[in-house]
Amino acid sequence: MKFDDKGLAERCADAEREAILADPGFGLHFTDHMAHARWTPDKGWHDDAIVPHAPLTLSPASAVLHYAQEVFEGLKAYRRADGSVWLFRPEKNGERFQRSAQRLGLPELDVDDFIASIEALIRADAAWVPTPHDGGEESLYIRPFMFASEPFLGVRAAHEVDYYVIGSPAGAYFASGVAPVSIWITKTYSRAGAGGTGAAKCGGNYASSLIAQQEAAENGCSQVLFADAGSKQHAEELGGMNVFFLDADDRLVTPPLSDSILHGVTRSSVLQVAADLGMETVERPIVLDEVLQEIRDGRIREAFACGTAAVITPIGVFKSDAGEFHVGDDAGERTLQLRNHLLDIQYGRAEDTHGWTRQV
Ligand code: COI
Repeated sequence: MKFDDKGLAERCADAEREAILADPGFGLHFTDHMAHARWTPDKGWHDDAIVPHAPLTLSPASAVLHYAQEVFEGLKAYRRADGSVWLFRPEKNGERFQRSAQRLGLPELDVDDFIASIEALIRADAAWVPTPHDGGEESLYIRPFMFASEPFLGVRAAHEVDYYVIGSPAGAYFASGVAPVSIWITKTYSRAGAGGTGAAKCGGNYASSLIAQQEAAENGCSQVLFADAGSKQHAEELGGMNVFFLDADDRLVTPPLSDSILHGVTRSSVLQVAADLGMETVERPIVLDEVLQEIRDGRIREAFACGTAAVITPIGVFKSDAGEFHVGDDAGERTLQLRNHLLDIQYGRAEDTHGWTRQV
């Protein structure tokens, strides 16, 4: 698919766009266009185009509104010092989008078409890719998504599916920027169970995390950490990002991948960057009671959240019914080193030894 731009006008005036790019926040503003394609069993994917970013017209009977047959992705376009715009491992998002679609009974999109749709949107809306402020992480956040648009109330995989890609200029995900965030450990709610949709990037996982996220906010925390749904003993992941700990022996530890954990592109990049920087990395089950005791004893030196939106965000404190467990008031040294190195690769300031970046 080519996702041709049909020569559409800009929706937003230059001055308005520049004001937005000066302080974009996260997820608040949207570019002028979007990519779109439709799928039906007889035609497969068709009608691909770049169209104006505009409200959708949906039947109130569209299956997605009733049975949540939907998947999405999140990746970013980075503007480099020379003005060029680059993507970071978009094929990894494309492969995960296929796995998510497969799990939700949606049609798979070729990875090449996934990347073509994103690049076509970025070319149409190039003026919306922010130039990062000094030391900043501004980028164009790209949100591809696919949903069951067929008006049908029977419960089966839909026969009409729509795919869109929208763009949103973004700064830091957390209002506090790179300052350490506080994490609430919920024992009340689970995010995903074995054999469920935890590894798929589908809206339902996020919807079911919201009540726990509210519980976190009521306890003064900005994110929630879920334990596994079975034993409730092991750390799995945060509401919208993966979690890492740094132990006293300079080992970077994170829960192993499973069908109840999102296979984060940033997570896998962090593991590789840490190894490149000479750190030992360990993917193993993390018993919550043990890790909290280790934090209390000073044997866990640093902790951070990571994801496309969050990049690498230091964690300052974990809170639970058992009390507060302080990791540190400032971002840890290793956390900052990993964060800066990852951002340097993404913005072309460090050598991309793994071939992760791709110019649009
Ligand atoms: C991302 O990091 O891209 C996500 O989809 C997570 C969400 C919290 C914005």
